Amino acid sequence: MWLVTGGAGFIGSHTVELLRKKGHSVRVLDNLSTGSRDNLEGLDVELMVGSIEDPDAVARAMKGVERVVHLAARISVPESVESPLLYDATNVHGTLQVLEGARRAGVQRVSLASSCAIYGSLPGLPKLETSPIHCESPYAANKAANEMYARSYSETMGLEVVALRYFNVFGPRQDPAGPYGAVIPKFVEWALAGQTLTIFGDGEQGRDFVSVRDVARANVMAASGDAGAGEVFNVGGGRMMTINQLAAQVSAAVPHEVSFRHEAPRPGDVRASMASVDKASEILGWKPEADFDAALAETVEWFVQRGGELVPG
Ligand SMILES: NC(=O)c1ccc[n+]([C@@H]2O[C@H](COP(=O)([O-])OP(=O)(O)OC[C@H]3O[C@@H](n4cnc5c(N)ncnc54)[C@H](O)[C@@H]3O)[C@@H](O)[C@H]2O)c1
Repeated sequence: MWLVTGGAGFIGSHTVELLRKKGHSVRVLDNLSTGSRDNLEGLDVELMVGSIEDPDAVARAMKGVERVVHLAARISVPESVESPLLYDATNVHGTLQVLEGARRAGVQRVSLASSCAIYGSLPGLPKLETSPIHCESPYAANKAANEMYARSYSETMGLEVVALRYFNVFGPRQDPAGPYGAVIPKFVEWALAGQTLTIFGDGEQGRDFVSVRDVARANVMAASGDAGAGEVFNVGGGRMMTINQLAAQVSAAVPHEVSFRHEAPRPGDVRASMASVDKASEILGWKPEADFDAALAETVEWFVQRGGELVPG
């Protein structure tokens, strides 16, 4: 039995889907704060609605579980600046509840979600797992703490934990909502609705986009194998694309003309970000495989199916 915390969310639901395809039994622990039942539609899984902050819910969720993918978290960087205590309660204390619950239940291995946010805006590309970290938000600090607990549990507490530093994940079911929603679902939603795409700054800031299907595969590989306990691995596409290039790609992926507008840069926006994925490749045997254009087309198609308006070309 596998447990996926946050399994009703974006990355979680793709991880659950992959596990089901491989024939595993899956339980999800999710409080449905940003995730939804719809994301799990058609998947034969056991959904437990509850919080990772609740030790009783975690203990129930761990019964009979051998492998855990821990994804449940509060995920907004600006919100973490507003409410650092709430972020600590879920992302650090909640993670500790999951790791303790797993240890008590005799779980074999956990993979958990860290983030490229912990590299901050220090120069130097590509980012290696040995590059210095520079946590510029409580969210980043939460993720760094998770990585350190991964090491402690693996070294001295009898539970193997692998931490994966995701870069900019994209794909179907990603929520574009809110002023700080991820750029790809926002661009796709605007483009399909015939709205102008807003690009902050000159658009030459670079990002490393990784398909959610590649991330789901990394989660499953990290939690199934026996390599890399206590270690941290970058999970990115391993190449950089500028926001201007992305806007052009999104424009090409929808069937009508798209217009762009530049606005003032957002404070704190990182200039460039790109992963080296050599360590994950060497130790976990994982590499990004998705073709960007095909993954973007699949994302556009999902938004169309979901009811995104198509403006006649
Ligand atoms: N999407 C990205 O680009 C990205 C990048 C780096 C790291 N991450 C990390 O990946 C993980 C998954 O993120 P996502 O993008 O799928 O976001 P998401 O919001 O879709 O998923 C988070 C899930 O956790 C659940 N959740 C939140 N608080 C909970 C709690 N207290 N108890 C139980 N469930 C709770 C939510 O309902 C949701 O289903 C997070 O840990 C996030 O920090 C995501």
